[in-house]
Amino acid sequence: MYDQLLEDIERFLAQKPNRTEGLSFICELLHRKVEKYSWVGYYLHSKEKPELVLATFQGAPTEHTHIPFGKGICGQVALSNQNFIVDDVNAQENYIACSLDVKSEIVVPLIVNGENIGQIDIDGHAIAAFNKNDASFLEKVNRLVALHLF
Ligand code: SME
Repeated sequence: MYDQLLEDIERFLAQKPNRTEGLSFICELLHRKVEKYSWVGYYLHSKEKPELVLATFQGAPTEHTHIPFGKGICGQVALSNQNFIVDDVNAQENYIACSLDVKSEIVVPLIVNGENIGQIDIDGHAIAAFNKNDASFLEKVNRLVALHLF
């Protein structure tokens, strides 16, 4: 399934959508096709200050549209530049809760020209919903994003 999704994303991005259209397409597609992806969003690094700004998402609206670097799972990835898979969000001290339904989370940085400029953030309603296959799939998605939208 992930290979088919990568093909769909590549085909869409090859039509040269603008950045918002491209990121929105990916969030909508992944949210709709991958059942365990309960919430899918892209945060981008602010140009003004060290914080993440929610660019686009699919799933329940969140009040966390701005997240300072270092705060929560997302803010930690802004500083570490590394994938972060959380099997049980309730066992994390530095975590920002969006919804009580969320049990696990994966965040994969968006690297453009060697620089971490944002991230894809996905929440799951099951404990340990995400694994290395998701991480490697989302790295590929982000490589397509870096190539076509930035
Ligand atoms: N849980 C995230 C906050 C963003 S929401 O999942 C949409 C975190 O701890 O950074």
